[in-house]
Amino acid sequence: MNSRHEYLEEVLKWKEDVLTVLKDEGVNENESIYLRIHDFSTQLSRLVEEDASNEVLSVVQGEVAALHEEVEQYFIERQSHGSTFINETYVQPGKHVLPPLPYEYNALEPYISEEIMKLHHQKHHQSYVDGLNKAEISLAQARKNNDFSLVKHWSRELAFHGSGHYLHTIFWNNMTPKGGGAPGRLLLREIEKYFGSFDLFKKHFSEAAKAVEGVGWAILVWSPRSRHLEILQSERHMILTQWDTIPLLALDVWEHAYYLQYKNNKASYVDNWWNTVNWKDVEERFLKARQLKWKPF
Ligand SMILES: [Fe+2]
Repeated sequence: MNSRHEYLEEVLKWKEDVLTVLKDEGVNENESIYLRIHDFSTQLSRLVEEDASNEVLSVVQGEVAALHEEVEQYFIERQSHGSTFINETYVQPGKHVLPPLPYEYNALEPYISEEIMKLHHQKHHQSYVDGLNKAEISLAQARKNNDFSLVKHWSRELAFHGSGHYLHTIFWNNMTPKGGGAPGRLLLREIEKYFGSFDLFKKHFSEAAKAVEGVGWAILVWSPRSRHLEILQSERHMILTQWDTIPLLALDVWEHAYYLQYKNNKASYVDNWWNTVNWKDVEERFLKARQLKWKPF
């Protein structure tokens, strides 16, 4: 099986996921968005049977991008009408899927080989997706059974596999066959403002990446609080966080936060802390945070 064929197979799988989302959202099968996907699907099945050329594949890639935008637009319009209650599209516990690569496995050659891309995407990223699903399901089970004896273990798994899944999803899209050069004016201006120049930014980013201890990531981030860019290292990536998430409610359990009053009775501090929570603030953060929407995977 060649990589073009595999790519088409993945797009087919992605199309099925989109259909599931529409179904879950209660979208009527007579709506035009369904017909649009149906046409696309017929076209795809034919291509999977034939040995599609590179030109045809780039048409498919364009179609995937257009279709994705149409689906998003469809939901935005439905929401703006406000007459019907729309469930936000969300990934239910254990329902993460491997996103298709936005290009073929050999598309980044000679910089990254087809062999690496295949292994990295199909094996490594898939195992993060599987691990994240397992952790989410296990924690859902723990809530259901009121049994949190393994909460520490599953929280670690959630962080490790969740960060793996989210960061790889960012990583694939951060690359493109005709990449390189410099960013557009807005980002470039922001980079120059904070790092001094584009070359200094690249130097800082490369040095941070090379100096990551063991395994991990170099990550350019935006800080909504400082309102500037920053370069961070993530060793491994599972130190109990999931990158690509936004904190809404935080409880400080460092000793300085409770020891003078509660001594070593951290549990009592945690239980009492609930009486102080400002839910209005948490909700405001939630409303701001949910404005940021990435394609769900
Ligand atoms: Fe990786």
